[in-house]
Amino acid sequence: MSVAETAESPLPTLFELTAMNPAYRADPHAVLDPLRARCPAHRDEASGSLILTRYEDVRAVVNDRSLWRDPLCAEEAAVAQRAFVVNVDPTLPRSSTTSILMLDDPDHGRVRPPLAQALYARVARCRPQVEAIVDAALDALSAGEGPFDLMSRFCVPIPIDVIARILGVDTERLAQFRAWSEAVIEVFNPFRTPERTVEMEAASQALNAYFAETMEARRQAPRDDLLTDMVRLQAEGADLSEDELRINLTALLIGGNLTTTDLIGNGVRLLLTHPQELAKLVADPGIVNAVVEEVLRYEPPVDLTARIASHDMEVGGCPLKPGQVMNTWLRAANRDPAVFEDPHRFDVSRKHRPHVAFGGGAHICIGAPLARLEAQVALSRFFARFPDLRLSDPAAPPAWRGLPFFRGLERLDVVA
Ligand code: HEM
Repeated sequence: MSVAETAESPLPTLFELTAMNPAYRADPHAVLDPLRARCPAHRDEASGSLILTRYEDVRAVVNDRSLWRDPLCAEEAAVAQRAFVVNVDPTLPRSSTTSILMLDDPDHGRVRPPLAQALYARVARCRPQVEAIVDAALDALSAGEGPFDLMSRFCVPIPIDVIARILGVDTERLAQFRAWSEAVIEVFNPFRTPERTVEMEAASQALNAYFAETMEARRQAPRDDLLTDMVRLQAEGADLSEDELRINLTALLIGGNLTTTDLIGNGVRLLLTHPQELAKLVADPGIVNAVVEEVLRYEPPVDLTARIASHDMEVGGCPLKPGQVMNTWLRAANRDPAVFEDPHRFDVSRKHRPHVAFGGGAHICIGAPLARLEAQVALSRFFARFPDLRLSDPAAPPAWRGLPFFRGLERLDVVA
């Protein structure tokens, strides 16, 4: 019996539910399963939040549109959530300093719809571009090559190149754009060092300047890209300020790049370590959508999302006052045995799979259609080209990255 399983042992803190805890990093479910069984609504004093691990509670809370999301609404005791309070400028409207991810109504309901409309329209017609980007990455890999790191050669560049292409980033700015995109991810790391904060803020400012300059250029000379769509929406009367546009364009990079990289990387690793499931995909590439959904359920790239009580309420038997924070553990909900039969089995043929990898309700991931498309194209084309690919050292433990609240691989060494 592990330490986490003894009834007397203390329940894990939020910090211990991150990759900084070696046990969680090796196998999050060795920590989450006993927590869900012992205390599915766990009040963690260290972070000042209620940690929810049962599917039923997680689903109900993320879907509840009356709850808040802005960390400024969190009580002072909610120290982990308050760490997300950055860039606050009381002279500016909140929607000019934070993206839709942490914005509440009425601003969220005003800003998100036009962005979603423009993004979904682009995603609906970008499959050929995604296929071309994936094929170019595959062309650069050759059969018989190895061992090499699939993360840096395939999984990392694809989402950045796809969003750059959709937005309309010029080829000569791509390297710079990639570097900025990688640096701004640190916004999610409440334990980042001061040096990382400086790098993150510099990248965010550079992106801001880049978007401002490019939007102006598109006003003068429209092109067939998302930046042009955005300035056109504005010109046609959408109630969106320049700041709101820029901050949410950056949010597409922050929200979309690492997560989609991890979805593809986790998918390749899971298929390589479950040959029977891989054989099903190779035999029938038409099941790739189900494969991607099972990867999202079994190994979601994002651990959690949060909501803040906006009124007196109760969840899982715990009373909450306005300002109290709930951390909804998506990873734990996706393996709740009350909802998923044999939850720790990776099974692409599973019939019932209502996972919460993209959260839910008003804040449900705006990039879900794009992430799904990229992963479907990447996994199906990858295994069609390299059906015999293998891990270079099957006995080695996976090299999980250390960024809290995300689960993805630092390296994935393979032989083609
Ligand atoms: C597998 C890939 C991805 C995963 C697992 C993921 C996961 C999530 C989660 C859990 C949330 C919070 C939902 C909630 O609070 O209920 C979210 C929100 C968001 N995601 Fe994603 N995401 C992914 C890909 C993307 C992509 C590709 C983009 C952009 C192109 C993106 C942009 C965003 C944005 C802007 C939000 C905030 C939406 C809002 O609050 O209204 N994500 N995502």
